[in-house]
This record gives sequence, structure tokens and C-alpha cells, in this order.
Amino acid sequence: MLVEALEPLFDFDSLVELRRNHNGLTGQDIISVSQFDREMLSYIFNRAREMREMVQRVGSTDLLKGNVLTCLFYEPSTRTSASFIAAMERLGGSVIPITQGVQFSSVSKGETLADTVRVLEQYSDVIVLRHPETGSAQLAADYASVPVINAGDGTGEHPTQALLDLFTIREELGTVDGLKIAMVGDLRYGRTVHSLTRLLIPYDVSLRFVSPEILRLPLTLMNEVIDAGLDVRETHDVADVIENADVLYVTRVQKERFADLAQYEEVKDHYEITSELMAQAKKTMIVMHPLPRVGEIHYGVDEDPRAAYFRQVRNGMYIRMALLAAVLGRA
Ligand code: NCD
Repeated sequence: MLVEALEPLFDFDSLVELRRNHNGLTGQDIISVSQFDREMLSYIFNRAREMREMVQRVGSTDLLKGNVLTCLFYEPSTRTSASFIAAMERLGGSVIPITQGVQFSSVSKGETLADTVRVLEQYSDVIVLRHPETGSAQLAADYASVPVINAGDGTGEHPTQALLDLFTIREELGTVDGLKIAMVGDLRYGRTVHSLTRLLIPYDVSLRFVSPEILRLPLTLMNEVIDAGLDVRETHDVADVIENADVLYVTRVQKERFADLAQYEEVKDHYEITSELMAQAKKTMIVMHPLPRVGEIHYGVDEDPRAAYFRQVRNGMYIRMALLAAVLGRA
């Protein structure tokens, strides 16, 4: 028998290469959720589970010892910056936090973002950037030679939040396919909604978008969802979706994005998830929120086991640990 004539079942070399570069993530920028296919997601989620196990067992490791992360935040942030810092420190790396008072640094002297990242990459191995302008993360990535991770670019995307959101759905409900997911609040300006919606497109999900008229999901994104053939509906009223929803993803009205504050005042108190509303929901439904909340979820709901938002925060650290390890090429 001519063994040489047999075709290999798979390309062993490319499989080894895939493992070595962490499903293509090593050295990569993380700018948009469009970069992730289901195989990559499953890789990141498995790594996040390993991180959780490690943290629960020993708290930290020295996997990223010697690596430095710069957290460059041009917009206020408590949880996202703290989450990246915690992730890096639990992996034994260190952090240059530029999260407070960016207005007092060179940025306020007129230095361009391009120059700022080219300076910061001299000190660090990875840069996490939050910036008020859509497209800024891509711009920074075009100039930086170290990986840039988008931690929110204006109303554009917030990919690491979407990854942790999807991971939370997966961990809480055991699956994503077949679910009815309702997004509530500021669907127009909420970048977490934009990223999560896009990330859900390859799944077999039903999407319900609940918002005041002026805060509807941007048309281009709505068209992406419709073109993908997903079952999708829009409404102004949470009561229309609460009974059938498996996930209620609630968001804050993004005050800082309104040109006209009177318009913000009109819609800011549009929704409040209360225990009375929760009584109409499935026993298995989960409530999520990227936080901070400013009144969209009544504090009385916190005691409800279906309130998943603080568990969601913790998942964020595991996901960011998995991502940092992957882009820095450490298994
Ligand atoms: C979100 C953000 O910054 O887009 N927050 C976060 O990252 N946890 C949501 C928000 O600010 O409303």
C-alpha cells in the first residue's frame, strides 16, 4: 500500500501554529467584535474558565511576569480600567495607569493620539485605550507596534465588554443558541449594545430591541441583523418582551453623548426594572447590565438570583485575563 498517496486528514503544521498563536490572537489588536469567529470565542471562553479556576484556587500566577500594560483612558472609567488592572496583576504583570486627569498630561498640550501611543509603546507590551471618538482605537492601532485593545471608542464598539457579556450568557444559561435576548435602554449611543448585537449575529437568537424612539438601534446595525436573517423586533415597552425573554440586557442612557441635554432629560427615566416587572419574567431569565446604572434597575432587584450584573463584572476579569495572555502569546 502506498502510504505516501494518502492525504493527511488535517494540516498538522497549521494546527500547531494555531495553538502556538492562540487562535490567531497573538500580537493582534482587539478593535471590533467582527474579528471573532465562533472557534476563537470558544477558545477565549475556555481560557477564561481556566483563569477562573486558577483565581479561585490560588488568586494569581506569574504568567505575564515582566509584561507591562498601559491603560490609557480619555473617558471616565472605574470598572473597565479596574478590570484590566486586576486582570494584569492577577497574571503577574504590571500596569501604567493613565486613567485620571489625562487632561493634565501631554494630551492637553496638544499631542496627537498617534504620538501618545508611539511614546507609550516604548514602555509597554500592550495598550488598552478608551477614547471618546469612534475609530480612535483603530487609529491608535495603525500607529502602535504593540497590540492595542479597544476599551470603548465613543459610540462605536466595546469588544471586551461584549465578550464578557456573551461569556456571562453562556455560563449562566448554558447556551446561546435558541435564546430570546432583549436589549433595553440607549440602543443608539450604547457601544456595549452595538458590540454585543454584532457578536450575536452568527448565533441562532431572537433579538428584541426596547428603547424610546430617539434611542433606537442605528439603522446600519439593524440592517446587519436583518440581513443575517435573525428574528428581530423593536418596541418602546419592556412589558412587551419581559414574559418571553431569556436575557434582559439593560443599559444606561448615555448622557455624555447628547448634544441637547433637554432631550436627555426627556428620556433619562424612561425605564426602571422593578421587582413587579421581574414577577412577570421567566424563573430562568437573567438581568444583565454593563454598569454603571443610574436608575434603570431598582436596587430591590439586586437580591433576585436572576440579577446577574455583579457576576457579569467578575466574568469581565477572567475574559480580560484570557485576552491579555493570548495577545501576549502566553499559554
Ligand atoms: C459601559 C461603557 O463605558 O460603554 N461601561 C462599561 O464599560 N462597563 C457602559 C456605560 O458607560 O453605560
